[in-house]
Amino acid sequence: MDVHTTVADFQAARRRRSGSLGLVPTMGYLHRGHLALVRLAREENDLLAVSIFVNPAQFGPSEDYEAYPRDMDRDLDLLRRERVDYVFAPGVEEMYPPGHDTWIDPGDLGTRLEGAHRPGHFRGVATVVAKLFNVVAPDRAYFGQKDGQQVAVVRRMVSHLGMGVDIVAVPTVREEDGLALSSRNVYLTPEQREAAPAVFRALLAAERLWSRGERDGDVLRGAVRIVLEETPLIEAVDYVSVAGTPGLAELDRVTGPAMVSVAVRMGRARLIDNLVLDPASLPGSH
Ligand code: PAF
Repeated sequence: MDVHTTVADFQAARRRRSGSLGLVPTMGYLHRGHLALVRLAREENDLLAVSIFVNPAQFGPSEDYEAYPRDMDRDLDLLRRERVDYVFAPGVEEMYPPGHDTWIDPGDLGTRLEGAHRPGHFRGVATVVAKLFNVVAPDRAYFGQKDGQQVAVVRRMVSHLGMGVDIVAVPTVREEDGLALSSRNVYLTPEQREAAPAVFRALLAAERLWSRGERDGDVLRGAVRIVLEETPLIEAVDYVSVAGTPGLAELDRVTGPAMVSVAVRMGRARLIDNLVLDPASLPGSH
């Protein structure tokens, strides 16, 4: 496995080998969710690159950029075992050289849901993902469905800018009790960790109603809120959304593919999760 910290080194190494290339962009501190992306990408491509870069541009001024968990040695061990060909792990100056002032604005989609609570977040995500695509030039790139809005922003950017990268969304990996895996789960105290699966239970409550035919957006959002409000360790609910995909505008009635999603705050952790409501998954839809 080659580890490269500069664009020039990565690109020189890439030119020495031919074959299709998959990219798994990460911010490191890898968990089983990342490994699910890596394993699928390993199967689907001749060559596999994983990037590790904690991107300062997607963190707000009061967010956890400095505290974000990092463990490069452990990450590299895990990736070696997955037979990754290239790790691209640039420093901040390599990705944002002095004077860097070119940004990708993801438009309205970037201002909804997560974007409304984390202004500028998706501008940072879209910009770094575009840069990674330019540097690595993958055929396919793999993202976790847990960050459902991120997948939508990246897909739209790729389509609008004609980037020619296939975006693969990989189902969310969960703990046995339903909590979606996230590098930020380390912020939870044992008591908060025990209460955290309420987020998934809340989403399931909406999904259950929807699968029984409920189509009223407010009723579905209400079902999510009831479960969240029964959980005292949830200090704040940033949003509960039932939105159409891929545009993620809030729905009065769910008449097509949709995503139910939430963000809540528990102590130092902010948990996000979602479920896709896909009419094609309903019995009798085929
Ligand atoms: O999902 C993440 O880990 C990040 O947002 C990404 C896609 C690596 C961009 O920094």
